[in-house]
Amino acid sequence: MADLRSDFLGIKSPNPFWLASAPPTDKQYNVERAYEAGWGGVVWKTLGAEGPPIVNVSGPRYGAVWGADRRLLGLNNIELITDRPLEVNLREIKEVKRKWKDRALVISLMVPCDEESWKDILKRIEDTEADGVELNFGCPHGMAERGMGSAVGQVPEYIEMVTRWVKQYSRMPCIVKLTPNITSILPPAIAAKRGGADAVSLINTIKSVTNVDLDHFSPFPMIDGKGSHGGYCGPAVKPIALNMVAEIARYQETRGLPISGIGGVTTWRDAAEFMALGAGNVQVCTAAMTYGFKIVQEMISGLSEYLDDKGMAMSDLIGRAVPNFVEWQDLNLNYVTKARISQDDCIKCGRCYAACEDTSHQAILMKPGRVFEVNDAECVACNLCVNVCPVENCITMEQMPLGEVDPRTGRPVAPYANWQDHPNNPAATAAE
Ligand SMILES: Cc1cc2nc3c(=O)[nH]c(=O)nc-3n(C[C@H](O)[C@H](O)[C@H](O)COP(=O)(O)O)c2cc1C
Ligand code: SF4
Ligand code: SF4
Repeated sequence: MADLRSDFLGIKSPNPFWLASAPPTDKQYNVERAYEAGWGGVVWKTLGAEGPPIVNVSGPRYGAVWGADRRLLGLNNIELITDRPLEVNLREIKEVKRKWKDRALVISLMVPCDEESWKDILKRIEDTEADGVELNFGCPHGMAERGMGSAVGQVPEYIEMVTRWVKQYSRMPCIVKLTPNITSILPPAIAAKRGGADAVSLINTIKSVTNVDLDHFSPFPMIDGKGSHGGYCGPAVKPIALNMVAEIARYQETRGLPISGIGGVTTWRDAAEFMALGAGNVQVCTAAMTYGFKIVQEMISGLSEYLDDKGMAMSDLIGRAVPNFVEWQDLNLNYVTKARISQDDCIKCGRCYAACEDTSHQAILMKPGRVFEVNDAECVACNLCVNVCPVENCITMEQMPLGEVDPRTGRPVAPYANWQDHPNNPAATAAE
């Protein structure tokens, strides 16, 4: 069994799977059962400043998007930060950390954007002996309207300023949690690094409306006939999160900044993908809310088996795909593939034909008996048929060998060349 022990900013945990700050980490009862189930660490549900407790709605707080099998693909929420009193949370955190020394326990924080508020809360946090703090600059609803959460995360200068305060008033490792509700993730990440952040975590939820009630004409979740935007998460947001994580891992100014990857992690494979694109560990919320705490066991065994199969250590996986993430202009324009349909696997549904005929390159022929075949002379290798085919691996994309003539272009497959040197590129750098 591969060694999954993780050391993220000096915070040790038996595996790289942490629960993200959210309802699963809202209280001692949950966190202890999560640890029992095998989670390596948790980021406690965001704490706010001392004062009257936060008030949540008492109607539905979630909206959802499902696949055809009713599997939950996306979840949207209008929940705020913890609505439990600060001293209760702090007492429980201290107790949990004393009992579970081998697990990571990081505290998520969101207080008003002034130095005194941060100084005050950090003093109280130090006393819990927690392993670190995560600054919630991400929540897109409710708290942003009060000048916190994503209202801070959208202004790099504020991120840098608050991060500096935190590093000044606390000795703990500081993770800055970023909002995806921005044009580019790089300025906020750079600001966090400049402010002295030890790491960034991303993504928090995406501003969203999942659906509209067409009887009451209100966005859902509906509270007394009215709705509000929520924060979107779950498998649907993974592609956005992966790209943002990779951008930070690739960009010169942020390269090397430790990253905790969050957004739609449901299986070991999702986790491995985040790690390959540069995340040192991952955090999970929706999957635990959908399937329960024990889902971590599949993540642990799956990642371990994968690493064993590959003969890799976990450290070999982290960042492994980053050098292969390039700009479009660096892609090999001489790489040629063609779609191939396995007649043994085909169920003759015709989806590939409809897709290619109506919206791609009319490269699939429907022959008598509903036999579907690819016409190489028309196939541009777009891969649409693969994606719409209901049978996995029934259509595959096969690479043409060097030198073989592509019947579509009439030219032999040539060695690597990208757009920068392409004869059609007016700005090509190749010698005339
Ligand atoms: C109901 C709910 C409440 C959340 N509350 C918080 C919070 O208090 N603080 C925070 O930093 N993130 C909060 N999040 C965001 C999650 O920590 C996480 O960033 C997001 O859900 C993406 O991960 P996922 O796709 O695994 O759910 C919340 C998410 C949900 C669904
Ligand atoms: S890869 Fe694209 S062009 Fe080729 S057969 Fe499939 S859908 Fe048509
Ligand atoms: S979509 Fe797949 S299963 Fe359906 S006809 Fe095409 S190849 Fe066959």
